[in-house]
Amino acid sequence: MGIWSNTDFPYQCLLDFKRTITFQAAIQAIVKQGDIVLDAGAGSGILSFFAAQAGAKKGYAVEVNTLLASCLARSIQANHLSHVVEVIPDDIHSTQLPQNIDVFIGEMMETGLIDEMQVSAINALRERNIITAKTRLIPFQYETFIELGFTDFNYYGYKVFAPKHD
Ligand SMILES: C[S@@+](CC[C@H](N)C(=O)[O-])C[C@H]1O[C@@H](n2cnc3c(N)ncnc32)[C@H](O)[C@@H]1O
Repeated sequence: MGIWSNTDFPYQCLLDFKRTITFQAAIQAIVKQGDIVLDAGAGSGILSFFAAQAGAKKGYAVEVNTLLASCLARSIQANHLSHVVEVIPDDIHSTQLPQNIDVFIGEMMETGLIDEMQVSAINALRERNIITAKTRLIPFQYETFIELGFTDFNYYGYKVFAPKHD
């Protein structure tokens, strides 16, 4: 299974103020004191920090990109959150985690849930009972739209079949 990651993407997310404060409000509303929280595709770690702020007892911040994960480890220390947030540099589909997580936060939602595989990640967590019917999901719903388009794949005289985001 291919993993899609981009070291610049979490920074772009961080700069998206509306997105980020909307997540913060959802996390404040959903996370209860003492919850165990999983942040899938933690990136900068900002959503795990919000979970700690909301009262989470433990946050597992899983990030597949090792550079991002090492930056996140520094951020956790800098924010004195080592007692709550643990960074796990691994693929969310297969990493070892405790079962029955209280809250799942997942922002691996690039391009219609396809590239970053949020759906397959959630399914893999369900299969292993890491998240269950009792787990509160943030977000718990996603709307996407698909439209047929045309492309001829010709670039500079070559056929190029790279993924495209138009
Ligand atoms: C769109 S960014 C969001 C970052 C952060 N959650 C936020 O909301 O600011 C998604 C992150 O998920 C990570 N990611 C993608 N696939 C992953 C996987 N299979 N396991 C763990 N992390 C993954 C990427 O490396 C990227 O850092």
